[in-house]
This record gives sequence, C-alpha cells and structure tokens, in this order.
Amino acid sequence: MSKKCLVLTASPRKGGNSDLLANAFIGGAQAAGHEAHKVETAFKNIGGCIACDTCWSTGYACTQEDDFRTLEPLMEGYDVLVLATPIYWYTFPMQIKGWIDRLYAYGGAGSDRPLAFKESYLLVCGEESDKSAYDNIIYTYNQMGNFLNFKDAGILVASGLGAAGKVQETDFLKQAEALGRNV
Ligand SMILES: Cc1cc2nc3c(=O)[nH]c(=O)nc-3n(C[C@H](O)[C@H](O)[C@H](O)COP(=O)(O)O)c2cc1C
Repeated sequence: MSKKCLVLTASPRKGGNSDLLANAFIGGAQAAGHEAHKVETAFKNIGGCIACDTCWSTGYACTQEDDFRTLEPLMEGYDVLVLATPIYWYTFPMQIKGWIDRLYAYGGAGSDRPLAFKESYLLVCGEESDKSAYDNIIYTYNQMGNFLNFKDAGILVASGLGAAGKVQETDFLKQAEALGRNV
C-alpha cells in the first residue's frame, strides 16, 4: 500500500548531512512506490508556541499566522512522519523546535482534527561518535510519538559526521535509503 511521507528537515546547512539523509530516504520511499514531501523547517517562518491556549479557535490548529499553518494540511493528511535532523547540544535544533512545540495544538483532548501520522522515523546525525550522545534526542522523539500516538518505525543514528557532506563517505546514505524502501 502506498503511503504518504512528510519529511521534515531541521538543518540550516543546505546540502548538509541530514539533508542528504532525508534525500536518500525519499529516494528509497519513492522507489518503493510511496509519496514523499520534504519541508525544510530551517527556511520556513515557524515561531514557537506562545502558550495563548487559543488553539483551534479560528479553525486552524494554531492561531499564529506563519508557515506552521501551511503545514497543518500535510500533518493532517500524511501517514508517515520523517524527522531528519542534526543534533545541536544533544537535542533538536531550534529551527525545528518551534514546529515541535506547536504540536501542542494536536496533543490535547480538545484537538478538533487529528494528526494523520501513524508511524515515524528519526534520521539523526552529529559529530560525536559515542552513541550515548544521541540518547537525549531519541528519548524526546520517542516520547513525542508516545504522546501523539504514532509508532516509531526506524531510527538511524549517523554519528561521527562533522563537515557538511561527510555522510557521503559513509554507509549511512544506503541505510537511510533502505529505511525509505521499507516504509
Ligand atoms: C550549534 C551546533 C551544535 C551542535 N551540537 C552538537 C552536539 O551536541 N553533539 C554532536 O555530536 N554534534 C553537534 N553539532 C555538530 C552537528 O550535529 C554535525 O556537524 C552534523 O553533521 C550537522 O548536520 P548538517 O550537516 O545536517 O547540518 C553541533 C553543530 C552546531 C552548529
């Protein structure tokens, strides 16, 4: 069955390691007959949650008028969420953290329309080789899925990557493509 994958990237570095991981995943997913749509949150205007508690009062999930609004139909229509991100200080970069915080609108019992995500993937890269450096972002990712009712379908930790494009010297792109093929 063909699935619809919403691939969110987080890095401000175009052509960086996480961007290449996202592209590899998309290539695999499309080769397997799935649909994939990439959104680069670092180049969108998505502020943080302002805790106004006016979610849904205008018919939109969030009352703030920025690019989060253009993502709402995708979040309500795509089966699979893919987060492709570097770690910044052991967690998600602020470039995607605003989007994550704004999921608040979909997190409570008062949510007018549900998220469509049934499953998710995390493609995370970082400079450190020690896998424990990735524990924190993986914990956050897993807790998000637990809270919002989508299941983890795969986590790829592409460690030991500092310079942009370094991932091309590794096997991680093949691993990302394989995850995409197995959506
Ligand atoms: C602000 C900042 C914070 C970072 N924090 C970490 C970190 O905590 N641990 C780590 O292993 N790498 C860290 N890095 C390195 C990046 O995660 C690494 O270079 C990654 O490959 C960048 O991915 P990109 O090419 O997709 O931007 C940091 C980089 C920046 C710019």
